[in-house]
Amino acid sequence: MLDAARRLVSPSARSDVPPFMVMDVMSAAARIEAAGGQVVHMEVGQPAAPAPSTAIAAARKALDAGRVSYTEALGIRSLRRRIAAHYAATYGQAVDPERVVVTTGSSAGFILAFLTLFEPGDRVAIATPGYPPYRHILTALGCEPVLIETDAATRFALTGAALIAAHSRTPLKGVLVASPANPTGTMMTGEALGDLVDTAEDAGIRVISDEIYHGLDYTFAAATAARLTDNAVIINSFSKYFCMTGWRIGWMVVPPHLVRTIERLHQNLAISVPSLSQVAAEAAFEGHAEMQAVKHGYEDNRRILLAGLPQAGLDKFLPVDGAFYLYADVSHFCDDSLDFAKRMLEQAHVASTPGIDFDPLHGRRFVRFCYAGSRQEMHEAVERIGNWLKR
Ligand SMILES: Cc1ncc(COP(=O)(O)O)c(C=O)c1O
Repeated sequence: MLDAARRLVSPSARSDVPPFMVMDVMSAAARIEAAGGQVVHMEVGQPAAPAPSTAIAAARKALDAGRVSYTEALGIRSLRRRIAAHYAATYGQAVDPERVVVTTGSSAGFILAFLTLFEPGDRVAIATPGYPPYRHILTALGCEPVLIETDAATRFALTGAALIAAHSRTPLKGVLVASPANPTGTMMTGEALGDLVDTAEDAGIRVISDEIYHGLDYTFAAATAARLTDNAVIINSFSKYFCMTGWRIGWMVVPPHLVRTIERLHQNLAISVPSLSQVAAEAAFEGHAEMQAVKHGYEDNRRILLAGLPQAGLDKFLPVDGAFYLYADVSHFCDDSLDFAKRMLEQAHVASTPGIDFDPLHGRRFVRFCYAGSRQEMHEAVERIGNWLKR
């Protein structure tokens, strides 16, 4: 009976995407906590702080007003204007509000971008290590992710030269860049991003720039592709800098001639983004000072880890430029970071994410630490890891 049902409603081949290992780490951490253990959580990439109080107050007011309705598919006009103004204020770049599309987190932005730019079978370059859903969403939509290895010489970022080398082997239709990046926390300089965008455009390769960690840069300012070209699809979110992961709201800046296509797709796929989240997002921009204070907390955490982890025994990591991630090479301790992460969780009660989630090629050498927690937790983590590695 069950077999017959399985045959009748077997899942499609394209829905066969791998799980996110970090979820398994979270379950293991929850078991330890249920048994009375205290875990320092550095596995999940999300801020510990709430949304700006301005955002929460605006959502409350909108809720009290009663009716919560659909909005235009592209988003509430005043929010689109506010996002456009953010580009002028932050990067000195005028952006036409008509090019702004409000999305259900950047996650929905990827789906809209990939559907708009690519046909099934198209090849899209992404850096490895990288954020796993890039490749999983591409695969689910019938596109082929092309993993390009990065290394220290380029701050673990894609370069124009690497892109062209891959393109000449088998033609690419698109490239997705991210700076600051997840899991590495590394960033591209403005010059490196400019070189990549120019190279891609000259070769007819479409550019998508994931700028979700903008605002969280500690060594030099993050550059937006919006300053370089009108042809790139820029994806951003309120999840990270504005601490609004659960509100599920983000945005895109798209080439003018793609707006109507994306609008039609969005009308059909989602109708609109939840209106309470849109109201809250617009007000979030008024909470800048609060969010800067949160960012200063990450800066302190970063300093604690940069000073403490080498003393604890973890002294090999990628440049810790932005976002809130530190990507540490643990290959001198063991040849499987999944096992390393499991043992560190069970024995030291520090939860991290094994690199295999982010890099099928070399991920077994790395673990990712998220430093979006409290200062106290960072000190605790350094001490526990040090004691554990010295055992
Ligand atoms: C690099 C990167 N892009 C996109 C996302 C998706 O975020 P959201 O859908 O909450 O905007 C994440 C989430 O962790 C991320 O790390």
